[in-house]
Amino acid sequence: MKKILFVTSEAYPLIKTGGLADVSGSLPIALKGLGHDVRILLPGYALAIAAGHFEQVKLLHGDGEIAILEGLLPDSPVPVWLLAHAQYFGRPGNPYLGPDGKPWSDNPERFSLLCHVAVETAMDRLGLRWKPDIVHCNDWQTGLVPALLSDEPGRPATVFTIHNLAYQGVFSYETFVRLRLPNRFWSCQALEFYNQLSFIKGGLVFADRINTVSPNYAEEIQSEEFGAGLEGLLRHRRERLSGILNGIDADAWNPATDPFIPTNYDIDSLEKRPANKTALQQAFKLARDDGITLMAWVGRLVQQKGIDLVIELLPKLMQMPIQLVIVGSGEARYEQILLHWARLYPDRISVKLGYDEAIAHLIEAGTDLFLMPSRFEPCGLNQMYSQRYGAVPIVRHVGGLADTVADANATNLSLGQATGVVFRDATADDLFQALNRGFVLCQNKVLCRKVQRAGMSKDFSWRQSAQRYLELYELAMADRLTADSLLQITAST
Ligand code: ADP
Ligand code: GLC
Repeated sequence: MKKILFVTSEAYPLIKTGGLADVSGSLPIALKGLGHDVRILLPGYALAIAAGHFEQVKLLHGDGEIAILEGLLPDSPVPVWLLAHAQYFGRPGNPYLGPDGKPWSDNPERFSLLCHVAVETAMDRLGLRWKPDIVHCNDWQTGLVPALLSDEPGRPATVFTIHNLAYQGVFSYETFVRLRLPNRFWSCQALEFYNQLSFIKGGLVFADRINTVSPNYAEEIQSEEFGAGLEGLLRHRRERLSGILNGIDADAWNPATDPFIPTNYDIDSLEKRPANKTALQQAFKLARDDGITLMAWVGRLVQQKGIDLVIELLPKLMQMPIQLVIVGSGEARYEQILLHWARLYPDRISVKLGYDEAIAHLIEAGTDLFLMPSRFEPCGLNQMYSQRYGAVPIVRHVGGLADTVADANATNLSLGQATGVVFRDATADDLFQALNRGFVLCQNKVLCRKVQRAGMSKDFSWRQSAQRYLELYELAMADRLTADSLLQITAST
């Protein structure tokens, strides 16, 4: 049995902005199910405290009053420690962004505090009487942990998972000074990145093992196109870099039992699925028509996800007999354009801005086609939810999308393996061709059923991937970086 401290900045259902929360709310449960002692450390955001049952187990002093609250991840046996700090985490709203849509200005202080408390927890210096074998860190908000732990004698092994390399936690030199990080970290072989402080480099340089959330993205990030300036470092550490495909919470995302959808169904009762399409059309005030092809989007409205490509295609799409529903939030310019189009075509396009978990489930259960034309996609979860729900995903051949969706080409169709439509280039033309192929597929009920069934038969659960994480933990523990090996890494980067 391994003891694992899972450090993360979001975990469903306590707090969620995207896929990191889904992973943090399901991988620990899978590891626990395999007999391991896994505990989550998460900032005590006001929303998170309100979403569970927690009691204070420690009061620490430092920069303001810091408390550790203890409870369980709701509906699970996984213990959670919340790091409560009224000034840094007590505010309502998004964990990273203020009401103006810009990052909170004290984010470096907030997540540096998380990292310091993670180190104290990992070294069992908080009196919690538990010392992990492994500290599993996720994304830049936890990046300082492997760095700060690196020269602690008797430290646990560290694993750093990249969920999205585009977010790096880069701040000024003044911030580095203000955070009172050890001077030796101010080096391009440590946390310095082009004269700035990079949180993510703490994970990439110092973790015993690095992984990302799909095998394909693990390769892609070693190239200039996807490496976001860190490709050299990642190539250098490729012996310790791997890709493990995310799993999904197969209980929360199960059309046979999903409480968010009006009509449950499974692979053997697909004829019941259209009732959800009707409910979806009704919820979005579109004509209730089973014959019309329904396309949907759930996700962040940012360039990464290719929403601009969809917007570019709207004039052409409106020439086709289709309906489009969009749920998401993100950049104001995309939100405004989408609202404008919804006003122009109220019976064809319906847009809900904001975050709505229940509607996300209804969309997977009701839509014919699910759009994910991402420019890059470390893993992506929605395309897996779509396949499980019998919605046909339209995805770009990139990152985890390429690893999880099999194109409906002649070969895959004849082998019964096609589960979606895959296109190559991030252009409106390529996306349009893919949408057309999806549209034609929907017209052919027999073929479409075949694709739906192939998707619904796939196993996207954590079963295999949780096992792969355990293997990764073994490797991290077996060849923990020593101060000497770190010198070698940093000397040649
Ligand atoms: P990312 O983490 O890059 O945003 P993923 O596909 O990994 O992308 O995960 C996104 C998760 O967030 C999915 O569970 C998706 O359903 C959910 N999601 C994103 N936007 C919304 C929204 N507006 N309403 C409800 N759920 C959303
Ligand atoms: C990130 C990525 C997404 C991935 C998620 C969970 O938000 O953008 O592709 O699925 O993390 O790992």
